[in-house]
Amino acid sequence: MILYASPPSSAIFSISNASQQAKPRSSSSNCAHQSIPEAPPFPRLFCHNHSCLCGRRRFIEAATATSLFPLCPSMASSNSPSDYAAILNRVRSPKPDWYEDFYASVLANGMKSYEEEIAVYKSQMFANLRGKSQKVLEIGIGAGPNLKYYAGNEGMEVYGVDPNQKMEKYAREAAKNAGLPPESFEFKQAVGEAIPLPDASVDAVVGTLVLCSVTNVDMTLREVKRVLRPGGLYIFVEHVAAKEGTVLRFIQDVLDPLQQIVADGCHLTRRTGQNIIQTGFSNVDLNIASFSNAAFINPQVYGVAYR
Ligand SMILES: C[S@@+](CC[C@H](N)C(=O)[O-])C[C@H]1O[C@@H](n2cnc3c(N)ncnc32)[C@H](O)[C@@H]1O
Repeated sequence: MILYASPPSSAIFSISNASQQAKPRSSSSNCAHQSIPEAPPFPRLFCHNHSCLCGRRRFIEAATATSLFPLCPSMASSNSPSDYAAILNRVRSPKPDWYEDFYASVLANGMKSYEEEIAVYKSQMFANLRGKSQKVLEIGIGAGPNLKYYAGNEGMEVYGVDPNQKMEKYAREAAKNAGLPPESFEFKQAVGEAIPLPDASVDAVVGTLVLCSVTNVDMTLREVKRVLRPGGLYIFVEHVAAKEGTVLRFIQDVLDPLQQIVADGCHLTRRTGQNIIQTGFSNVDLNIASFSNAAFINPQVYGVAYR
């Protein structure tokens, strides 16, 4: 059942922070559903320029000299690797191994029909990376369903962050299948709320179906903006709350607590499109669609935001 689907090219929301005004860009008549949206190669590259503006530059230089990972999340108190473990555990409480294993395997094997359906949308969004983005960060990379879209971008380096360490083997496999050389893909166990990269260090950030699961949406979006270089882009696909008063929204409200337990903290009723719009990106191109293979994980906002 398709509740609503807009073709990939029709942005229903396009904002420019020059004016801080939200402007409908093209006809949103299709959008009766909601009146507004929803309602060491790698470390070496990322450490190359320790341009962190958080005032801990000397510490970072010392730390990165001995560590494979560049350090500088705004949340870390002293930027030591043990801070990352502490932040990781504080933001997302540790889960038993069997749960992490199970969830990673569900993501790796259970999303195929959805991925097929959204492929045309993703192809169009990821085309924005061509020729412009050498360093890409993916937050909540999971089993790596987006890695195939990076194929053909010669020299691209992809840095995947996810708190579930069990995702790594699937993400690595996906990177290999996408033809990414092993040295061009790095996986780091971390959370979006404290991204272990310096300020303005990546050309693009990708996040698909992840802001539903993070503990703090706004903190994660601030981190996305922080690590993006000026002009860099944030590609997103996020499922959001259905319109109030609809049957779908009723189902979401009922299932939300259970979903958080069985699906690793996934929330069904967030209004993530609004969080993205309010983060202060210079431009946000935001679209909305529903997918028959996503059941009550609908509608979804997708698009590109520019720092
Ligand atoms: C629904 S899955 C989506 C995975 C992948 N992006 C995709 O499109 O299939 C949500 C992912 O977010 C990760 N995650 C959960 N909490 C997170 C956090 N605080 N920061 C970053 N990722 C998180 C989960 O481990 C999981 O891999």
